[in-house]
Amino acid sequence: MKRHLLSAADLDRDDALLVLDTAAELAQLTDRAVKKLPTLRGRTVVNLFFEDSTRTRISFEAAAKRLSADVINFSAKGSSVSKGESLKDTALTLEAMGADAVVIRHHASGAPHRLAHSGWIQGSVVNAGDGTHEHPTQSLLDAFTMRRHLAGGKGDLEGRKITIVGDVLHSRVARSNVLLLATLGAEVTLVAPPTLLPVGVETWPCATSYDFDAHLKDADAVMMLRVQRERMNAAFFPSAREYSRRYGLDARRMAQMPDHAIVMHPGPMNRGMEIAAEVADAPRSVIVEQVANGVSVRMAVLYLLLGGATLGDGTEA
Ligand code: NCD
Repeated sequence: MKRHLLSAADLDRDDALLVLDTAAELAQLTDRAVKKLPTLRGRTVVNLFFEDSTRTRISFEAAAKRLSADVINFSAKGSSVSKGESLKDTALTLEAMGADAVVIRHHASGAPHRLAHSGWIQGSVVNAGDGTHEHPTQSLLDAFTMRRHLAGGKGDLEGRKITIVGDVLHSRVARSNVLLLATLGAEVTLVAPPTLLPVGVETWPCATSYDFDAHLKDADAVMMLRVQRERMNAAFFPSAREYSRRYGLDARRMAQMPDHAIVMHPGPMNRGMEIAAEVADAPRSVIVEQVANGVSVRMAVLYLLLGGATLGDGTEA
């Protein structure tokens, strides 16, 4: 493993499988009455959130706490960032407090790279979502969830067909998923209107399509993406109704998926827009499970970046 986790591309196949296998071991803790391990006792994890978050932030907090780390939660709102303090000065403050790991979410693509490579801090940097760029731990929890349902919880995802649908242009989740799923051998098709596919997508290790209906019958998983209106500065589609009709997952479309196929969404969902409520709540929807798996996967990431101790199989991090 590298010292930082900035991109899903930082993980080769062995690293990715090590994170997933470690997460699977740690997931067994969740079923115990006492969910805590002493592994990161005395280490400090700072959650540095410059952008709103529900799932990712509480997930990292729960993960660090279950490993007995001290957790400092920092959000830009209500801090000196709103007085104009720079990323550099914020980083120097964290360094002065002895942060061993900094989990950062930032509206600017590349902010975690800046933090990791600036020399401002000594600890590990984990990207928890930077602008429209990457969200590697989301792709790990998605792969973990797919592996459980589609590969018996072991090995990689060789040959599995994953359809990712919607606002790819603004989605850091899509980019990280494409990279990690390619590493794990899955075949990804991105489905979106032409206006919501990024320039250069043809160089990504995946296929693209404008036709959702053509990619339902052979999908092992269909992952819906949120329409990110807060990042839209123009009209990317005629109307919400038109968008749902062509790119929304409703019961009729879900019925065309194979019986074993799962429905995924990173959250937060726009129910009735990219996903119908009855689909979000259907038995084959694993959306709530994705959130639960996020804690185990983030525990694995923090453990492997910071721990260095052994966990069961004697693997040195
Ligand atoms: C995503 C994000 O913030 O990138 N959500 C998440 O982390 N669970 C996706 C989104 O905001 O649509």
